[in-house]
Parts: sequence; C-alpha cells; structure tokens
Amino acid sequence: MSATQTTLFSVFTVIMITLSLLTTPSSSATDSFVFGGCSQLKYTQGSPYENNVNSLLTSLVNSAMLTNYNNFTFPGPTSQQTLYGLYQCRGDLTSADCSRCVARAVSQLGTLCLDSSGGALQLEGCFVKYDNISFLGVEDKTVVVKKCGTLTAYDSDGLTRRDSVLGYLGSGDGSYRVGASGNLNGVAQCVGDLSISECQDCLSEAIGLLKTDCGAAKWGDVYLAKCYARYSVGGDHSHGGHDEDNNDDEIEKTLAILIGLIAGVALLIIFLSFLRKLCGNGKGGK
Ligand SMILES: *[C@@H]1O[C@H](CO)[C@@H](O)[C@H](O)[C@H]1NC(C)=O
Ligand SMILES: *[C@@H]1O[C@H](CO)[C@@H](O)[C@H](O)[C@H]1NC(C)=O
Repeated sequence: MSATQTTLFSVFTVIMITLSLLTTPSSSATDSFVFGGCSQLKYTQGSPYENNVNSLLTSLVNSAMLTNYNNFTFPGPTSQQTLYGLYQCRGDLTSADCSRCVARAVSQLGTLCLDSSGGALQLEGCFVKYDNISFLGVEDKTVVVKKCGTLTAYDSDGLTRRDSVLGYLGSGDGSYRVGASGNLNGVAQCVGDLSISECQDCLSEAIGLLKTDCGAAKWGDVYLAKCYARYSVGGDHSHGGHDEDNNDDEIEKTLAILIGLIAGVALLIIFLSFLRKLCGNGKGGK
C-alpha cells in the first residue's frame, strides 16, 4: 500500500466508524435500549438455519407495518432447526412507529447476536425474539430487568395513588394497559402470544414485584420474559423521556457536522493525491 492509499484507507475507516456511530443514538424514546440477550449456541454460516433467521427477521419488520403483534414459524430440515419468532410493539404505537422500532430492534439484534441460534431484544417501544426452542404461547415469568428509581418522599396520599395506579394496571383487561393519577403514570404490556389469563398472571407477578421491591421509589421498571409493568412520577425514568430526546438531537447534529468535516477532508486528500499524481506524471516519473 502506498502512503496515499494508506491515508485514504484510514479516512474511509474513520468515515465508516462515524457512520455507524450516527445510527446508534436513538431519535425518540421508543428507540431506547432496555435489554438484549443471545443464545450461546451458534449456527453455521451458509446453513438453511441462517437463511431462516434472515427471512424471519425480514418478515417481522414487514409485518410490523401492518400489526402490533405477530409470530412466525420457519420449518428447517430437522425439527431442531425449526425457527420461531415474534415481535410485540407497545400498544400505543402507530404502525409507522411500530415498524420503525422493530426495524431498529432487528438491526441491533443482527449485531448483538451475530450467528446466534436465538436472541431477544427489548427497546422501549417494542420487543423482538427468535429461537429454535418453541417459546410461542408459553408463559415465562423470568425476571429480566428490575430497576427502581431513587427513593422519594411520598406522602401517604402519594403512596396510595401509586398503589391505586398499580392496582388499576393489575385489574385491567387487554395486553396493553395505562393508568395515571396526578403526575404518576403507569404502563403495562404483555407479549401477544399469551392468553388473557396468562397475561393477567404475568402482570400480577410484575406488579407485585414493583410494589415489594421498589417501595417508595420515584419510578420502577419490572420486565419479565413475557410482560412488563412500569410506573413513574412526572415522567422521570431510567430511560426515555424528553430530556434524552434533546440530548440525542444534539448528538445527531454534532455527528452530522463531524461527518461533513470528515467528508470534506477526505475529498481534499483525494484531490491532493490526484494533483500529486498529475504533477508526478508531468515530471515524467514513469
Ligand atoms: C438449536 O440450534 C442449535 C444450533 O443449530 C443446535 O445446536 C441446538 O441443538 C438446537 N436446539 C434445539 C432445542 O433444537
Ligand atoms: C401465531 O400466528 C398465527 C397466524 O398469524 C395465529 O393464528 C396464532 O394464534 C399465533 N400464535 C400465537 C401463539 O400467538
């Protein structure tokens, strides 16, 4: 590699790294990362299983333009290689937001769970999971995330309101539930493959954990494998919220400027090396 080629190569590397950074910051609260995990087992590259994973992930993204929940099964050469997958968007998302969220989750899964036979990822607005072990329609109350905010000086009225919002979430029907009292908000969501009674059972467990473990915390998040329940005072949260939106906007602006600069420098270098070649040829270097 000549010096010019090396310089060009490193400039392109910087551009690629910057571009990949640009796609990382989320532009809205629905995109915030909550959790993700992958199966330890890897599939062989080029196998039918890999094709199925790619087809499945594409199907999930396409389906999310039409509906908030769907599941898919892709048979493989053996029953062990049958692939199952689903996504669930939060009940209040429009189909445009749902498909945007699922697309982002799928792209993050592709990086996080490269070649893994299974993976799951929860963003604030949507959940995506695939595996070769059938999990469709199976209730799973494994605690995945349990986070509580800082303690707050609830007066007894505040605590009562918190508990009444949680009670409301726990007694509602449907797989998406919201409740509010004053500035205290609660939200609960089941994955759509659970039956009404399984959803109820899963949410009762999550809400129970919020009550016992988050005590007088300002906010609490409990994500079980197939449902979650959260509450917060005044929109305060571990992730999401409007403050983060502004930060993300700033980051995106800064990155856009940075990319402009780098592209400019790259063009300059290409131009200069082109000039140098011309001059070199002019002097009859070869
Ligand atoms: C899942 O797939 C992996 C890799 O293809 C395989 O090793 C494993 O046995 C499969 N598990 C089941 C339960 O079929
Ligand atoms: C999976 O999807 C099919 C067809 O869309 C639907 O009939 C079935 O009830 C779904 N199964 C589960 C477990 O959600």
